[in-house]
Amino acid sequence: MKLLITGGCGFIGSAVVRHLIATTDWQIANIDKLTYAGNLENLKDIEGKPNYHFEKADITDEARIDQLFLQYSFSHIIHLAAESHVDRSIMDPMAFVKTNVLGTAILLNACIKAWSDNFKDKLFYHVSTDEVYGSLGETGFFTEDTPYDPRSPYSASKAASDHLVRAWHHTYGLPVLTTHCSNNYGPFHFPEKLIPLVIHQALSGKPLPIYGDGMQIRDWLYVRDHCRAIERVLQAGEPGQAYNIGGWNEKANLDIVQTVCALLDELRPDPAGPYRRLITYVTDRPGHDRRYAIDARKIERELGWRPAETFETGIRKTVQWYLDHPDWVADVQSGAYKDWVGQNYGAR
Ligand code: NAD
Ligand code: TYD
Repeated sequence: MKLLITGGCGFIGSAVVRHLIATTDWQIANIDKLTYAGNLENLKDIEGKPNYHFEKADITDEARIDQLFLQYSFSHIIHLAAESHVDRSIMDPMAFVKTNVLGTAILLNACIKAWSDNFKDKLFYHVSTDEVYGSLGETGFFTEDTPYDPRSPYSASKAASDHLVRAWHHTYGLPVLTTHCSNNYGPFHFPEKLIPLVIHQALSGKPLPIYGDGMQIRDWLYVRDHCRAIERVLQAGEPGQAYNIGGWNEKANLDIVQTVCALLDELRPDPAGPYRRLITYVTDRPGHDRRYAIDARKIERELGWRPAETFETGIRKTVQWYLDHPDWVADVQSGAYKDWVGQNYGAR
């Protein structure tokens, strides 16, 4: 297998690259633009492996993408490159339209050109999100048949890319797979997202911002469980199908922040007092989705995947990883992170 992974220097992409280098002998090329969210440090441990190649490239650069398809003769693609943060999408939506929509179309078209209608043993695997389904009320779950109802520029751009993937399948016969995953957490997570942001802020003695009432619900999945699911879907998923991936771990944001505070109190106590003293309610995110929850029975029934971590085991590993990696933390804190925190929706 000659596998292209896009966005392999990001949070999930780097975990996928590391996982597949460890579990397979596939040739893997990682194409990443190295935006603020992409970091070569995330893959330092696998640099130099003979079956791993890195190319700095932008997926919206059609000529460069076509040239890389010629150079590497990819047979399979796992497409993760994206602008991924909802708050940034509210402030700069066009970057999301460009990378997530145009970038995906350019990759799909590159497959058509490179594979010249011979799709035997070829696959385009698109990594999408549960956010394309919109927001749930107090009950119910997202299934693969839930109608699309994206509500942020981020989720709308991901929904648009999902539709392009489906269209290339129906129109050109391109073999595709799509997965919709819930909120991931774990090592190497850029500290603009809730869990790593709260860890960094707490360790710096700074406010822990809770948007609105903090009772919004997300369904959390440890990133390595997502990697195991991606490997399973890549190898056994039925082309043309979609699979929802979730952790059966619904938590309100306030619970998440309190759990992180309690773990830090245990592992790195602050003489100034419990970390929960830093919790600060701030203005809500515009259009904030209230609840996400994944029904992950299809992937369990058809492909035999289930998460291995509970939230309790996964969040403990995550907090410990941040405490054990002050260099990585210092590196990201010195760059884009510094410019970002505090720009959210202000005090309430
Ligand atoms: P991330 O922001 O951490 O990483 C994105 C990566 O894509 C970075 O390395 C960045 O440099 C790269 N990239 C961005 N624009 C690019 C471009 N134009 N060309 C080439 N590379 C580019 O994101 P993540 O959290 O790792 O998410 C990865 C994928 O998984 C995304 O498609 C996202 O929509 C999806 N997803 C994420 C979650 C989550 O909880 N993080 C959940 C479900 C789905
Ligand atoms: P986030 O990690 O940005 O992921 P997503 O918006 O894709 O679900 O946010 C997770 C939840 O936490 C979401 O409901 C917004 C909320 N949140 C806060 O309350 N405070 C924060 O500082 C951040 C970044 C998020």
